[in-house]
Amino acid sequence: MLKNKPEFDAKYKEHLIRKILDLKRKTNALIVAHNYQRDEVQELADITGDSYALACEVKKAVEQTIVFCGVKFMAESAHILSPEKTILLPVEEAGCPLADMVTVEKLREQKAKYPDAAVVCYVNSPAMVKAESDICCTSSNAIKIINFLKEKQIIFVPDKNLGRYVAERVPGKEIILWDGYCTVHMRLTKEEVIKTKKLYPEAEFIAHPECREEVLSQADYIGSTAGMLKYVLGSEKKQFIVGTEIGIIYRLKRDNPEKTFFVPTEQFICANMKLTTLGWIARSLEKMVYKIEVPENVARGARKALERMLEASK
Ligand code: 13P
Ligand code: SF4
Repeated sequence: MLKNKPEFDAKYKEHLIRKILDLKRKTNALIVAHNYQRDEVQELADITGDSYALACEVKKAVEQTIVFCGVKFMAESAHILSPEKTILLPVEEAGCPLADMVTVEKLREQKAKYPDAAVVCYVNSPAMVKAESDICCTSSNAIKIINFLKEKQIIFVPDKNLGRYVAERVPGKEIILWDGYCTVHMRLTKEEVIKTKKLYPEAEFIAHPECREEVLSQADYIGSTAGMLKYVLGSEKKQFIVGTEIGIIYRLKRDNPEKTFFVPTEQFICANMKLTTLGWIARSLEKMVYKIEVPENVARGARKALERMLEASK
């Protein structure tokens, strides 16, 4: 088997970064990256953040071309909120299995069953489903959004774990859950968390609300990726067990060089998030691919649901 020499890898990385920066200048593009992206992609990006922060950043950006290093539903939301901008997703296949667990047809059936309910749609969903919903939410504002609604009955799609987590914190509301889940966060079990806690008894356990209920019951802090970054920065603790995709560890370490982070499972990797590499970003800017465009007849309804969310979370 042929192996690259480390110095070759480093030179190639340097070459790609130079190429990207040159193309970025020529096209006047902005590169944004989700907190789960590869270390070198986060390092290169102009802005990193959770799905809520990135949606806001793209909307207020002055650049007309955005390279969105993330997954498809995020790039779709960016285009819905900023239809005048060119939104590029470097890898066309970078999707989200959770987003694919809800369809408009099934949602319509549920709406017919509960005609008085409001539909709250987690942003990890297709544009068509957003268009069929009353309001969107992300993991950082879900509780606020549900409390903002006057309806007592809520159909929450598609993540059952986030939905259940929210339901326990919004008294007086009936949350009708959908049977969707993140295939990555579902991999973590309570036993793995307990085992890791025994190894590092001083460590706090921080978890994303997409984790199983039994896992969340073990957590010292539950929140979005941005919430976790904020929590660790403000904490006096020195060790943390991280209950979300490992990409977040890049920022955790960068922001907290004196703190240590442990992963409770080796399987906390979102293959879709890891598809984006420096090579694909360079290609994206060179060929201006892949343009993510949501047809205006769908975007109109989805924009209403997303903008209502932005307004309600102010
Ligand atoms: P955040 O909203 O925390 O960015 O999470 C998005 C996501 O895909 C979680 O799996
Ligand atoms: Fe989708 Fe889960 Fe990957 Fe997030 S971590 S993008 S919810 S598959």
